[in-house]
Amino acid sequence: MSSTARSNSSAFPPGPRGYPILGVLPQLRSDPLRVFLDAADRYGDLVHLKAGPYHGFLLSEPADIRHVLQDNARNYHKSPLYDRLRDGIGNGLLTSEDALWLRQRRLAQPAFHRQRLTGMADAMVACTEQMLERWDAVASRGETIDVMAEMMALTQAIIVRTMFSTDLGAAAEVVNRTWPIINRRVGETFWSTKLETTLPLPANRRFWRALRELETVVYQIIADRRQTRRDEPDLLSMFLSARDEDTGAGMTDRQLRDEVMTMLLAGHETTSLALSWTYYLLSQHADVERTIADEVDRVIGDARPGFAHVDRLVCTRRAIDESLRLYPPAWGYSRQALADDEIGGYRVPKGSLVFLIPFVIHRRPKLWPDPDRFDPERFAPAQESARPRFAYIPFGGGPRGCIGNQFALVEAQLIVATVAQRFRVELAPDQDVRPEPLITLRPTPGIRARVTKRAPTTPQVIV
Ligand code: HEM
Repeated sequence: MSSTARSNSSAFPPGPRGYPILGVLPQLRSDPLRVFLDAADRYGDLVHLKAGPYHGFLLSEPADIRHVLQDNARNYHKSPLYDRLRDGIGNGLLTSEDALWLRQRRLAQPAFHRQRLTGMADAMVACTEQMLERWDAVASRGETIDVMAEMMALTQAIIVRTMFSTDLGAAAEVVNRTWPIINRRVGETFWSTKLETTLPLPANRRFWRALRELETVVYQIIADRRQTRRDEPDLLSMFLSARDEDTGAGMTDRQLRDEVMTMLLAGHETTSLALSWTYYLLSQHADVERTIADEVDRVIGDARPGFAHVDRLVCTRRAIDESLRLYPPAWGYSRQALADDEIGGYRVPKGSLVFLIPFVIHRRPKLWPDPDRFDPERFAPAQESARPRFAYIPFGGGPRGCIGNQFALVEAQLIVATVAQRFRVELAPDQDVRPEPLITLRPTPGIRARVTKRAPTTPQVIV
């Protein structure tokens, strides 16, 4: 039982009544962020929501969140809402459960060790430099960039180079074109029935077509490596050389497809959104942007950014952390109880859904005073240690926490620093950018920005 002492095991916690049978399902389908935000505002830290056939529980109390993600994680599987995600990326590390998940997690873990990040940092900076070469021309023509498209292409190049030791060449266009279609369809059908997603409707056909195209790219990555027999020290080699302890068999092509698809997508989409939202916020907070530029001048100067600088880019990191608080790319996730449980003194029957919504938790005034204000100093050590760990969950937590969180943070810091050495990114005027909750939280309709070259830094003369 969680540490919150609210003993009321006979009834459900308070919550919106919703419609008969459907509960709040219609509202969740049309505006989930509003439903969850309003529910927590109105009913507090533990809310009961009836969603179609399910009892749902919205948690905002860190001790309750820890209970589900960590202390009693064994009692929870990913909820049926992940079935729609499985339609896209299959049964890889993000969506699998139990023995299969554990085996794959152990297999993949070494690819993310901190010492491996040192080497990957170089690829992260090299890919950013390539992007900035293009920005030179954009800046001199006075044109604007589509921030999300730029960040998506960049993080995609990085994930493919670091995890699969290749580049996609012309196939990069396929990923960039097909993934938004898949993301949208999965996001729109989270709450749909299986039937709605299997009928040959135009939207489903578009989804299947996109999936087939994307799959071709993924199978090509696997086939190329098999053909060349290169033994790169990367994630793909780890997957390809894995053998079942009992049978000695390698992973099936289907399992490989699911794992490569998962890493390709989980490994670039979220980070690109974190960066897009960071630029959106920085361009409205000139003081923080200035602080970052000064820090980059001080810590890196004219040198090439690298892993050795990361720990000293303190303000840069805080700004990224704060951006992940306000606009968490993984805005919400959910679990299903395998057996009866008790949370915050209330009975949670077997089969119930538990909603963990960083977008809501990160805006609870009790945990985050003046929650809508962008203030990177919330992540200064004194403030951080005064908060419960599970008040901040952009990367989830417990055994199913994000395997790529360090990778993503190092990558985001190095990209922001490499860009800040040479450019300012300013929001183009008159844009109404809103967060759209698909699988991930996307800035809609997009972010247009002007990039201008920074004046070269004056070398510091030490006398
Ligand atoms: C800012 C960037 C990122 C964010 C916000 C993010 C967020 C998350 C969250 C919230 C989860 C847990 C989901 C759940 O509990 O249902 C997760 C899991 C996962 N993430 Fe990330 N992620 C990011 C970057 C990455 C990167 C760079 C990679 C790979 C290189 C990655 C790969 C994964 C995988 C494979 C899982 C499933 C882990 C498991 O269940 O064992 N993520 N991520």
